Amino acid sequence: MLEHGGHILEAAQRYGIPREEWLDLSTGINPIGWPVPALPLDVWRRLPEAMDGLAAAAAAYYGTSLLLPVAGSQAAIQTLPALRGVSRVGILNPSYREHAHAWQRHQHRVIALDEHQIESAIDKLDVLVLCNPNNPTGCRFAPDTLLRWRERLAARAGWLVVDEAFADAEPALSIIDHAGEPGLVVLRSLGKFFGLAGVRLGFIAAWPALLAQMQETLGPWTVNGPARWIARHALRDTQWQDATRQRLMHDSTRLAELLSRYGLRPTGSTALFQSVHTPRAQAAHEQLARSGILVRVFSDASNLRFGLPGAPNEWERLDAALARLGETT
Ligand SMILES: Cc1ncc(COP(=O)(O)O)c(C=O)c1O
Repeated sequence: MLEHGGHILEAAQRYGIPREEWLDLSTGINPIGWPVPALPLDVWRRLPEAMDGLAAAAAAYYGTSLLLPVAGSQAAIQTLPALRGVSRVGILNPSYREHAHAWQRHQHRVIALDEHQIESAIDKLDVLVLCNPNNPTGCRFAPDTLLRWRERLAARAGWLVVDEAFADAEPALSIIDHAGEPGLVVLRSLGKFFGLAGVRLGFIAAWPALLAQMQETLGPWTVNGPARWIARHALRDTQWQDATRQRLMHDSTRLAELLSRYGLRPTGSTALFQSVHTPRAQAAHEQLARSGILVRVFSDASNLRFGLPGAPNEWERLDAALARLGETT
């Protein structure tokens, strides 16, 4: 199993700080997520039904009806490699590591590519997998570029897999409305922008035969009734979505300014995190953790990723901890 952010209970044990005292900035999850109300009893008691209105709410939000809900986009990430014969798979690197892990586990030949190597490698690939915007670098690909790559891959029965887990705050980046074009697979998540990571709900958008194959492989009722109910209402709440898009953009800029003030100028970002390349990464991670603030340090130990604080006292706490950090690292 790969390492991920969000292991606050583990951190509590390791640093001897009670769970409720932690400020968890180790993920890219919106700290002020969609406000989940009390759920009707039926959604707990009855089996989930495909005609419950989730499909229509998702089609309105994503701009396509060629969608399959899955138990987190992770479920689609793990299953996609089983739906093709052994292939040469180019995967953006660094990126969300579950992609490479999943394709490798199914014996595909994985080729790590940085953003500048894709154009020249594409005609030798069967599948290209990337995140747009990318986690953790914040690198972005223009929709036109992606659609050209899709065409070149599809000409040889290849696939372009675009993970748009962080695209909700920047809808202009998304190519999900092109779902249905041959070879195009788009993944979305309710975990990040909606702040509903615990619900375990995401979507795969693709041409109908691939969606049918995915559904057949995953089996019935993979998304539970409460998750479907919550997603249906969150996806319909355009007022919350508009306000949240604005707030996240503002808060992400505020976080970049705060980090820069303390010598940690971000090298990449999305609306939900700021990434910092610094030789002080490991030391900074350790010292922040000792004051109860968990950030993500990446395995090459020179990259830190900061998620957004939520409440005003969380911003103040981070500010004070960064000030102390400047004095000692
Ligand atoms: C880029 C990216 N894609 C997908 C996922 C998986 O999200 P989920 O399974 O919660 O939808 C993550 C989680 O961290 C991610 O960072």
